[in-house]
Amino acid sequence: MVEEHFIPKKYTNSIDNGSFTWSSPSNIALVKYWGKKEHQIPENPSISFTLNHCKTTTKVSFSKKEDASGFSFDVFLDNEEKGDFKPKIETFFKRIEVYLPFLKDYHFKIETTNTFPHSSGIASSASGMSALALCLMSIEEEFGTEDYFDDYFIQKASFLARLGSGSACRSLEGDLVVWGKHKDIEGSSDLFGVKYPCQVHSNFKNYQDTILLVDKGEKQVSSTVGHNLMHGHPFAQERFKQANKNLSDIISILKEGDLDAFIALVESEALTLHAMMMTSMPYFILMKPNTLEIINKIWEYRKTSGSKVCFTLDAGANVHVLYPENEATSVLEFIQNELVAYCQNGQYICDVIGLGASKV
Ligand code: PMV
Repeated sequence: MVEEHFIPKKYTNSIDNGSFTWSSPSNIALVKYWGKKEHQIPENPSISFTLNHCKTTTKVSFSKKEDASGFSFDVFLDNEEKGDFKPKIETFFKRIEVYLPFLKDYHFKIETTNTFPHSSGIASSASGMSALALCLMSIEEEFGTEDYFDDYFIQKASFLARLGSGSACRSLEGDLVVWGKHKDIEGSSDLFGVKYPCQVHSNFKNYQDTILLVDKGEKQVSSTVGHNLMHGHPFAQERFKQANKNLSDIISILKEGDLDAFIALVESEALTLHAMMMTSMPYFILMKPNTLEIINKIWEYRKTSGSKVCFTLDAGANVHVLYPENEATSVLEFIQNELVAYCQNGQYICDVIGLGASKV
């Protein structure tokens, strides 16, 4: 599969206006994507759990314009016009125009809402960009093209989402998604995310993810800056090798249901991501003191209770607490008794792995 496969040759219908709505979830990586080449091509493959409750719902209304001179769109978050979202969407439109040649022919009204608080420190780019890409694909579907192949819709939607925000391409399907070419994963691609095709043990069914909001502030380092820090990073090549190996290893872990090995791999990935940032130039510490308090509490609890709870991190201070469904009650009790004190305003979000995006 190459990029050119997503360039439509001709549309068969002409439509003046309409609207589509999609709801798309966030995702949390187990093996992390950190470092990219040109055109949002990842330096290493990654795999994530698709979430169920942390979602963005986006409605795109479109109407034909008189002239096709430039992009024309308005963006609303919770019914409020958001001028500051426009540059990111303009960049996105520029990147994808060759794949959706109708973009300059229409005016778009983009209305979006998140189920999670906007300033929670939970990135809305994965859910937001995937929901927008799906809406645009629904519009293209109306136009009709003769270029369809199997999985055209979902692959191209993921392909477009990737060009908006890399990890967004893992937010369309559930419940585990791989992005990035890997020798042991059939169908995997650098261009789009694919549903994890291998066997998954029942231990991972309805896996729980409680997100502890340690720091709800603006991201200290944007992911664009973060990915760039991997260029010329002294440990970059070893890191990319390690991610490839971790992806190979997680295949048997997921198949056997080996929770101890899962914990070791997932926590090591989280700390490695942060280690990459601490050892780049310039360097950053994205954890806060409370992030470390929580990690230590989780380790202590695991030791004394025999629980299979573990943590992972994104490029920020918030902690994702992951645990099997059969521990849902006990771990939530532990969180409420011992971890909530370290959350900003005591805030946390309970989620569970889910099935992916849906048309509304
Ligand atoms: O999608 P981006 O460019 O915002 O990168 C996000 C990367 C991490 O969230 C830190 C890791 C991942 O694989 O999701």
